Amino acid sequence: MAANPRPLVAGNWKMNGLAASVGELAKIIKGASGIAADLMVCPPATFIASFVHAARGSTVTIGGQDCHAEPSGAHTGDVAAEMLKDAGAVSVIVGHSERRTDHHETDAQVHAKAMAARRAGLTAIVCVGEQRAEREAGKTLDIVGRQLDGSLPDGAGELVIAYEPVWAIGTGLTPTAADVGQVHAFIRKCLGERYGVAGGSLRILYGGSVKPSNAKELLTIVNVNGALVGGASLKAEDFLGIAGVYR
Ligand code: PGA
Repeated sequence: MAANPRPLVAGNWKMNGLAASVGELAKIIKGASGIAADLMVCPPATFIASFVHAARGSTVTIGGQDCHAEPSGAHTGDVAAEMLKDAGAVSVIVGHSERRTDHHETDAQVHAKAMAARRAGLTAIVCVGEQRAEREAGKTLDIVGRQLDGSLPDGAGELVIAYEPVWAIGTGLTPTAADVGQVHAFIRKCLGERYGVAGGSLRILYGGSVKPSNAKELLTIVNVNGALVGGASLKAEDFLGIAGVYR
């Protein structure tokens, strides 16, 4: 297994933020120095270009929250990976559970989006995770394994995986450290089977109710290489409190 990759702490702002939110980004940029992790903010698409501009010259990068699989065309309301790249994003989240639920996205569609990210030169952050009933039925690894099989892009390349138990997103609930460790070890094994030695150095993020008070416990688990943070990423102080685990 490869050495520990540099951690990544990515903030998923979801459908939050208005023009004044750039002030929060400025605070994140200011507080990023001295943190031994890559920091990324994934704001709504309306902010990508202005956030890229504001973050220029800093260590904070900007990512999108979703992309269409096609590079252009008659898809009203959608954003292509190429457009995110053109606006200066370096990464895009695909397969977030809110997309899988709200927009009925399948593993095949997530795979196509991950391939689109690659085509455009973006790092895909591919999200997987079980529902509460699936965990209670002891099916977590089956579900996560199936999602990985169906969603991951062909060839390792630039890729990040985020394990986000659906029942932990926005609820304040988190799995035990042992449960997170078990799933991350399983994902690491799947990545090895799929990508060979390259799978050992891909970053596997944990996401779901990460906050400053639980970040240390969650981010020091073996095979947890950072976090995908929702609610707590909207406040610079909280986001930096989480990333500060890597100080
Ligand atoms: P949360 O969201 O941190 O608000 O639980 C995580 C996510 O959906 O990425």
